[in-house]
Amino acid sequence: MNSSPVKIGLLGLGTVGAGTVNVLARNQDEIQRRAGRAIQCAKACVQDVSKPRGCDLSAVQLTTNVHDILDDPEIGVVVELIGGEATAREWVLRAIRNKKHVVTANKALIAKHGQEIFSEANKAGVMVAFEAAVAGGIPIIKTLREGLAGNRVSRVTGIINGTCNFILTEMREKGRDFTDVLQEAQQLGYAEADPTFDIEGVDAAHKLTILAAIAFGMPLLFDSVYTEGVSTVTAEDVANAESLGYRIKHLGIASQTEKGVELRVHPALVPKQRLLASVEGVMNAVEIQADAVGEALFYGPGAGADPTASAVVADIVDVVRQLTADPENRVPHLAFQPDNLNHPAIVPMEEIETAYYVYCLVSDQPGVLADITAIFAAHKISISAIEQHHAAGVQSQVPLMLLTKTTKESNLQGALKEMADLESVKGKVKRIRVELEH
Ligand code: NDP
Ligand code: HSE
Repeated sequence: MNSSPVKIGLLGLGTVGAGTVNVLARNQDEIQRRAGRAIQCAKACVQDVSKPRGCDLSAVQLTTNVHDILDDPEIGVVVELIGGEATAREWVLRAIRNKKHVVTANKALIAKHGQEIFSEANKAGVMVAFEAAVAGGIPIIKTLREGLAGNRVSRVTGIINGTCNFILTEMREKGRDFTDVLQEAQQLGYAEADPTFDIEGVDAAHKLTILAAIAFGMPLLFDSVYTEGVSTVTAEDVANAESLGYRIKHLGIASQTEKGVELRVHPALVPKQRLLASVEGVMNAVEIQADAVGEALFYGPGAGADPTASAVVADIVDVVRQLTADPENRVPHLAFQPDNLNHPAIVPMEEIETAYYVYCLVSDQPGVLADITAIFAAHKISISAIEQHHAAGVQSQVPLMLLTKTTKESNLQGALKEMADLESVKGKVKRIRVELEH
């Protein structure tokens, strides 16, 4: 049995890269006992070798030339932590063609190019591991792919972007300003290099794409995910939700329905008594509904150096353990055998059914509520609560909010369009979906 150290090469030494070097060094004895071989971080590729890194690099050769790693026959595992798509795809494919195993934390790469990468990896007989790509430190890929392999999964609901959850929590608990909290999330290393990926829901859509593929045995269909972020959620929405008994959370939902698979990412009001509503700060949680296990909730840190490194290092250990295993007997990348994927219909957003919170400003005059409720009735929408706030003194416009019962999205769109045309409705009519119990 080979007892020499396995040499790894890191591509990128930012938040996650430095975290990975630190965890590998701090826990090296435990890691070696688990993996069966020592793991040596031999080289790292960066853009600027003079930058301080916050980790001990005395045994690591730094380079700006990626071929020092990709073409080095001594490097057995390449760990891609640069982020982004084009360069990451090119480097990962080159590593695979050079018969190196790959570990990556890059959800954009897997969600958009996973099929190609896995197919090349299968041809080359190497592994591609990506636990850190979804929900940071929560081992949710392994859980779905292996721990729940006996189940038929019907629904995955997750808080899967730490930055969004951190922002929503700070806004609610401390009344902080959105932009100010986003800046802090960037300083803490939670946000993507381009933080619009976080706040516009793209990062969560990447992660949901991966979760849905693994949960339902379907291809990676990033372009089919309906995506809405938190950038339009205001302090007023957060406070209104609270007063109605809800918390606003940014959710990713993948659900098997009679009409097909729903894939959607958007803010939602979650009843306060539901466990997901208590997931605060940078924490993530993924709730899985499956026929055998029932309902299971997985909770943990969703971003940051050490939690993400925890997942990256677990993948490295997995790869090292399986170095000598027959490639035919490895766990398939997307849980199901690649020639056995389903190609389900994706439910158009207009067809999904959920409840809604609706908010707008209206003229403070008689008959406004009657007009609005008549519109909702005409679109077959039941209202479960309605509140019109009257501030002290004479006001020409007052805020109105209502909660609907579950209805079709197309019904709500029709009602909101008519409502916006009312003379008494001022400005934009806003809606946020409400995620009731399932
Ligand atoms: P950072 O921006 O902190 O680090 C990126 C690193 O990549 C830097 O060291 C940078 O070098 C290097 N790099 C970028 N482009 C090049 C290039 N062309 N050539 C050489 N080096 C390059 O990113 P993170 O560590 O935050 O994220 C890395 C990956 O992990 C991303 O895919 C991200 O989505 C994912 N991820 C991040 C999490 C987090 O909490 N931050 C959690 C889970 C996943 P230099 O420093 O010299 O500029
Ligand atoms: N930017 C991501 C987040 C990092 O905030 O969740 C973890 O994937």
